[in-house]
Amino acid sequence: MRAGRPIGVFDSGVGGLSILRALRAELPHEHFVYFADSGHAPYGERDEAHVIARSRAITAQLRAEHGIKALVIACNTATAAAVHLLRAEHPNLPIIGVEPALKPAVGLTRTGRIGVLATRGTLGSAKFAALLASLSGLAEFTVQPCDGLADAIERQEAAKIIALCGQYTMGIGRFGLKPGQIDTLVLGCTHYPFAKEYLRALLGPAIQFIDTGEPVARHTRQLLMTSHIPLQNADAPAVSCKPTGHLTLVSSGAPAALKAAAQRWLGLAVPVHATH
Ligand code: DGL
Repeated sequence: MRAGRPIGVFDSGVGGLSILRALRAELPHEHFVYFADSGHAPYGERDEAHVIARSRAITAQLRAEHGIKALVIACNTATAAAVHLLRAEHPNLPIIGVEPALKPAVGLTRTGRIGVLATRGTLGSAKFAALLASLSGLAEFTVQPCDGLADAIERQEAAKIIALCGQYTMGIGRFGLKPGQIDTLVLGCTHYPFAKEYLRALLGPAIQFIDTGEPVARHTRQLLMTSHIPLQNADAPAVSCKPTGHLTLVSSGAPAALKAAAQRWLGLAVPVHATH
């Protein structure tokens, strides 16, 4: 296999750019192709069959048209619905998924109370139920489905993002560092890190926000190495440097929205290829 083949990354829309940002920092010499499925989003409030069908179609397209050497599902909802199927259907393709960072949150909370914001699809999945059960007794989790929040972030509707963040954090309970209060908030959807500034303004500086970008990027590097997938400039030290790898952006929705999001959040002016 050639080292120069890209790593595929997909999400229902622009949220997975929060994972891509960490991937490019961890693997700066790698080429990436990012697929935003904005034309079929949001995933979180759709039925599981839709998310599975889209995940299958995107994986097939990334393999056929871009020859990807690995796949990162940069979407909690799609991971919960489809990662097991995609792994079974593509046994030779290393596939990395994301899940809400409940385990790291258990290690960080002082009050023992953790809030979890995620999509309805993620929170209702068997995979999430198993994750929650595996941590039973280690902390108290309060989960909150956030209908409409990923969509508002996708559309950059600031007033709606602020209103929904207020409504959903209030619905979880009291935040703070005192006993009985929630001191840690898991951002269990890859869109939500892009609402961090609004959440910070609502909840104050003391609350810890946990997302999955960096651990997923580290895990991706490890999996590529243990799967013997050749890396670009494999001998270069694994320290942060300016990414030199090529980035291809593909969107099934409005190309301008992905272009603007990549500019805003990654500081990159990259053309977007439209697909269906
Ligand atoms: N960004 C996705 C996630 O991590 C889903 C957002 C959506 O389309 O509902 O779950």
